[in-house]
Amino acid sequence: MTFVRLIPLLAATAVVLAIPFAVSEPLAQEAKPVKALREAPLTEMSAPPDVTKQSVPAGGFDRAYRQQPPLIPHKIDGYQITTQNNACMGCHDWPGNTRVNAPKISETHYVDRQGVRLDKVAGTRYFCQQCHVPQADAKPLVGNIFQNATQAK
Ligand code: HEC
Ligand code: HEC
Repeated sequence: MTFVRLIPLLAATAVVLAIPFAVSEPLAQEAKPVKALREAPLTEMSAPPDVTKQSVPAGGFDRAYRQQPPLIPHKIDGYQITTQNNACMGCHDWPGNTRVNAPKISETHYVDRQGVRLDKVAGTRYFCQQCHVPQADAKPLVGNIFQNATQAK
């Protein structure tokens, strides 16, 4: 085949390859802005939640499944956890817990990654709010059909 006879073939290939681009162009223009739960634009810091409005439900929430970290049944705004001091442990470590009648952190919290039993809370459990969150009588932001383990049986 000579080069001259190849030209129409090359032109046809170029047209076929260009079609998807021509089709996707109008679609991109129709895209609408997404309505997100975060109201402030991404470039701005959104207002912090009003924690004074947060209410702990009467009677509290039970665990939804056996291994669930229990939800915290009290406010925690005043308790800071830093590398020097863990304000939660004043009430939740033994023997301080007996003074305020708070449940002691469970024995699993004194075992490190290698399975060694420690006298102090393990580093892997130090930041309590990684797993425990305060209870709040808050409406779900997005509807869901979650059932806990006892309801789903
Ligand atoms: C001033 C003492 C005090 C401090 C500080 C404190 N708690 Fe408590 N906590 C309690 C008491 C008392 C209870 C149990 C009584 C109740 O039901 O309110 C409790 C209950 C809990 C429970 C529920 C345990 C269960 O078996 O249901 C969790 C989880 C918990 N606290 C986590 C925390 C975390 C995390 C922090 C730190 C951010 C913290 N607490 C700080 C006194 C305290
Ligand atoms: C890696 C996740 C994790 C971290 C971090 C963690 N916990 Fe827990 N916690 C759990 C789980 C899971 C349970 C329930 C199962 C158990 O007892 O181990 C629990 C149970 C508890 C209980 C109930 C104990 C009982 O016998 O009823 C208390 C109180 C508690 N945690 C407090 C704390 C405090 C205070 C901290 C921070 C010093 C903390 N936890 C850090 C996961 C965690």
